[in-house]
Amino acid sequence: MTQDRLEVVADPAELAEAAARAALADLEAAVEAHGTATWVLTGGTTPTAAYRRLAGHDLRAGVEWDRVRVAMGDERCVPVDDPESNWGQAAAALLDHVPVPPSRLLRAPAELGAEAAAEAYAAALAELPASPAGPPRLEVVWLGVGEDGHCLSLFPGRPEVEVADRLVVAVHDAPKPPPDRVSLTLAALAGTERLLVLAAGPGKAEPVQRARAGDESLPVTRAVASVRAGGGSVTWLLDRAAAGAGAG
Ligand code: 6PG
Repeated sequence: MTQDRLEVVADPAELAEAAARAALADLEAAVEAHGTATWVLTGGTTPTAAYRRLAGHDLRAGVEWDRVRVAMGDERCVPVDDPESNWGQAAAALLDHVPVPPSRLLRAPAELGAEAAAEAYAAALAELPASPAGPPRLEVVWLGVGEDGHCLSLFPGRPEVEVADRLVVAVHDAPKPPPDRVSLTLAALAGTERLLVLAAGPGKAEPVQRARAGDESLPVTRAVASVRAGGGSVTWLLDRAAAGAGAG
């Protein structure tokens, strides 16, 4: 889509650096605009490399971390110390290294099971200030892309993609393990101010190309559309392989 920004970097290492810089700039701008900022993280290898980069970044002192809230776009129903926990991975890579107050860490208690976690997480998110579009305002949101075009824990053809009356949905039988998860809904994403979609590697070239062409059978396409419909900005941050430009 023409109004989206597109940034293509050489490889995953450059992508981690570019994403870290984007987070710093976006969080600083959001805190300046609103006094606080909610950053919705995503699980996955690409963003986790960026979290690690950010934890060691010389510019991170520019962000008022005590004004930042952290949430997670989706979570797997495992204990937080399980290596599969999205939150656990983000904590080890970043959250244990920045001074976000514990009261501002909005973690879905996925170890309680998908339904209980979805209910508790939705209640916590509902406390946030509202966006102009209605749902809670999410100043900075990161999304990864699956090779099948999923994002969050919203998988192609699954009923959770269509859920419009809640901020958070319980997911069972996910095609990517573990099967039980909780996920923000597309309706929740309409509260996004700044979306960064991150993708690296040749396996992402096809879903990214289809999403950017507007293929609505892919949840990531619908997620980006929901952000745009709510008035948020969209940036695609890709390495050359994910942009479909081959290895060179
Ligand atoms: C999950 C993730 C998932 C992820 C994509 C991309 O819990 O499985 O949140 O939605 O973001 O699958 O992951 P990679 O960056 O590892 O390819």
